Amino acid sequence: MAISKLRIHRIRNLSALSLTPCPGINLIYGENGSGKTSVLEAIHLLGLARSFRTNQARHLIQAEQRDCVVYAELDPLNQGEVKPLGIERQLEGEPRIRFAGQDIDLSTLAELLPLQVINADTFQLLEGSPAHRRQFIDWGVFHADSGFIQLWRGFRRVLKQRNSLLKCGKIDPRMRQVWDTEFVSFANALTELRRSYLAQLIPAFNDALEHLLPGIKIDLGFSSGWDSKRSLDDVLAANFDRDLAMGHTTSGPQRADLRVKAEGHSASERLSRGQKKLVVSALKLAQGALFQQTHNRPCVYLIDDLPSELDQQHNRLFCSLLEQSGNQCFITCVDHSSLAEHWRPETAIATFHIAAGALVTDA
Ligand SMILES: Nc1ncnc2c1ncn2[C@@H]1O[C@H](COP(=O)(O)OP(=O)(O)OP(=O)(O)O)[C@@H](O)[C@H]1O
Ligand SMILES: [Mg+2]
Repeated sequence: MAISKLRIHRIRNLSALSLTPCPGINLIYGENGSGKTSVLEAIHLLGLARSFRTNQARHLIQAEQRDCVVYAELDPLNQGEVKPLGIERQLEGEPRIRFAGQDIDLSTLAELLPLQVINADTFQLLEGSPAHRRQFIDWGVFHADSGFIQLWRGFRRVLKQRNSLLKCGKIDPRMRQVWDTEFVSFANALTELRRSYLAQLIPAFNDALEHLLPGIKIDLGFSSGWDSKRSLDDVLAANFDRDLAMGHTTSGPQRADLRVKAEGHSASERLSRGQKKLVVSALKLAQGALFQQTHNRPCVYLIDDLPSELDQQHNRLFCSLLEQSGNQCFITCVDHSSLAEHWRPETAIATFHIAAGALVTDA
């Protein structure tokens, strides 16, 4: 699975950077503005064809340049066969993705390089809108069930149709019946997949949390997007006038959420900043552990500024969980000494010092 070679061209201040990462822990350190997050951004571009910082290619591509390229060598199925993966992004147009000499599409890419990001935005899993938590659950369901993507696309199509009928206000009752039957069928199937994924995720999350925040109990609960004591057919019928007035469908999987509670209170309100970081990290690590169980290969973790918000003891616990996980990790920090001593001697570690967008060879 691991990326064994990485070449980055014209991303932010990285004009041309080549790294030979190790399969375990890769520490990237350097001063503010040196290019550490940009390295993670480049790997994210490679895995998902987009940045985690911007939707606009002109911000990602180096100033005065027209395109950027990231190239890697990896063994995606963990079969001892290293293959090239490359992505090119121009100022305009769609990214071009090549794997083993062929053009591939986005969902093939997402399967090749399963990525997990832990950065300041990950707090949104607790503090942000339900959309962040749905996206989190759906990442897991996408990788757990090959039928998910079809189902999800089908559901989005029916939801869009139903909403556009609601918006125009006049709905033939027979038409409504047809759309609602389809809506309910997609919704129930999608919800079942989400529920069963979460049932598997919860024990993995509890394990990770017990390691990172021993003694703190966090409850995860799934909310399907409608009153689950009632059938969705009944809920749609009962809410029809309201949906018509609002011009969109107010109940269904598009409103699903993951409830995260600490001692009965919303975790977002209750926990400290450091505790929140550890809870969201436990969620992400649990996803990786589950992925590894089902696919027999690890994920790539991009962890920006690992030491921030954490004391020495929690840094150490976080590092020990990462090294046990078997994932390939790219971890940034400003000060190398903040993480240097947290690893077991047998852990594979590569260290990269970056200054002004280039690798520094430490004496
Ligand atoms: N499009 C661009 N072209 C050239 N340089 C850019 C572009 N966008 C950002 N930069 C510069 O690239 C540098 C790298 O930023 P990056 O966020 O990767 O730094 P960092 O090492 O993560 O810093 P910090 O420790 O502050 O998080 C910054 O100095 C930034 O000003
Ligand atoms: Mg940074």
